Amino acid sequence: MCYMMMYTRRGACRWPPGPRPWPILGNLLDLRGGNLHHNLARLAHTHGPVMTLKLGVVCTVIVSSQDAAWEAFAKHDRRIAARTVPDTRRAVAHADRSMVWLPSSDPLWKTLRGIAATHIFSPRSLASAQGARERTMNHILYTFRRRAGQEVDIGHVLYHGMFDLLTNTLFSLDGQDKLRDILEDIVALLAEPNVSDLYPLLRVLDLQGLRRWTATHMNRVFHVLDKIIDTRLGEGNHDQDVLDTLLALMTTGKMSRRDVKTMLFDVLAAGTETTKITVEWAMAELLRNPGVMAAVRTEMKGTLTQTQGRMITEADVAKLPYLQAVVKESMRLHPVAPLLLPHLVEEEGVEIGGYTVPKGATVIFNSWSIMRDPAAWERPEEFVPERFLGKTELGMWGKEVKFIPLGTGRRLCPALPMVELLVPFTVASMLHDFEWRLPQGMSPDQVDVTERYTSNDILVMDVPLKVVPMVAT
Ligand code: HEM
Repeated sequence: MCYMMMYTRRGACRWPPGPRPWPILGNLLDLRGGNLHHNLARLAHTHGPVMTLKLGVVCTVIVSSQDAAWEAFAKHDRRIAARTVPDTRRAVAHADRSMVWLPSSDPLWKTLRGIAATHIFSPRSLASAQGARERTMNHILYTFRRRAGQEVDIGHVLYHGMFDLLTNTLFSLDGQDKLRDILEDIVALLAEPNVSDLYPLLRVLDLQGLRRWTATHMNRVFHVLDKIIDTRLGEGNHDQDVLDTLLALMTTGKMSRRDVKTMLFDVLAAGTETTKITVEWAMAELLRNPGVMAAVRTEMKGTLTQTQGRMITEADVAKLPYLQAVVKESMRLHPVAPLLLPHLVEEEGVEIGGYTVPKGATVIFNSWSIMRDPAAWERPEEFVPERFLGKTELGMWGKEVKFIPLGTGRRLCPALPMVELLVPFTVASMLHDFEWRLPQGMSPDQVDVTERYTSNDILVMDVPLKVVPMVAT
């Protein structure tokens, strides 16, 4: 019997309401068909912004409004900062060493987050990797230029580009096709719905073999990373990139070799798809809203007067507030992680909306709903970048809980400083160097922005965006 239900019967505390669960299946039938984040939003309309669901036998509390999310993060951030770990992430004991999955109370999590903040995402580290970002952007633009006049799946180009950008930043290498292919295999495995996550007692059997397969692929990734590390250790002469820094920490005993590989894996796995999809959504919204596209172009033309004939830089992009607003508005409407990552309550004392959420419960934040909450946003379904203009408090770091595309609090995406630079820089570079036309016969209102939620917690475009780059004159 569900831990949460035992509490209710004893009358010890007041559980959030929710639809009546079926034996064994719980509320799975309520979530049939469609996208998970949409189904959860629909159920929240009936049962309220703090709602209990049983996913199989796993009791889960769904938070769907700005007010409830504010209460959760402002009052209980520390208590809810562990993770519910999907079974595939237990392969090769990954979750025990990974900053994505360790509870925030674990000293190793604190160490790893500290290392990432200081040596990967700090202003200094990002500045020293600026060259790598600009080189890779140049290559992305070159790829589009070669395809000028033809229909291009921009997500495909961006995926390769973002992966190269990260491998360049991490270990000054690109063209790591083998590594990219294995990572793609792993992402596909993680996207499979897994019966072990709905019925934890079955975990030991790994009925679909997903944990075993993930282990095989992860070992392959670690093998490739081992080779990269060995080569670097043998070189002696270093480039002073992230790998150098991590290896220096390893030499002084602050990280193990396994920690170094796990961190490299986490950054590559968490960073490639997310950035690519965010840029793809922003481009889709721009093409769908010609008025907004025209306003961005006017801003760029008026501000970037000295960039004719050269690539723009991140410093140029910092002078484009309207473009930055476009990116934020697109992230508000189409958050890549519409349910963030699953939080887990690790301490008693959590009350949200007058209901008790006990230790051991999973908490899911429906950031898609929160960022369309009509109590927080005017005309929440519309694409209106102007709403972000002059609102410094509406930054990506989620100070205002109504805008949390990267989460907020302790588990806030550690890559935020990189995302803030990279996403607007990519969109602006694409607009600076190209006019983007829709395929023959397609009008802006036909750009398909149907969302598809995948089981690895990511929101993709159901129909990949295809557009025609024309070299800007
Ligand atoms: C536009 C791009 C991105 C978006 C929208 C995004 C969003 C998110 C979100 C929503 C979370 C979970 C927050 C929570 O559970 O409360 C997260 C966590 C994380 N992200 Fe990102 N992310 C992006 C890019 C990146 C990049 C580029 C990297 C690495 C280079 C990265 C690394 C991570 C890691 C390691 C975590 C787990 C942190 C933890 O649990 O302590 N993300 N991200």
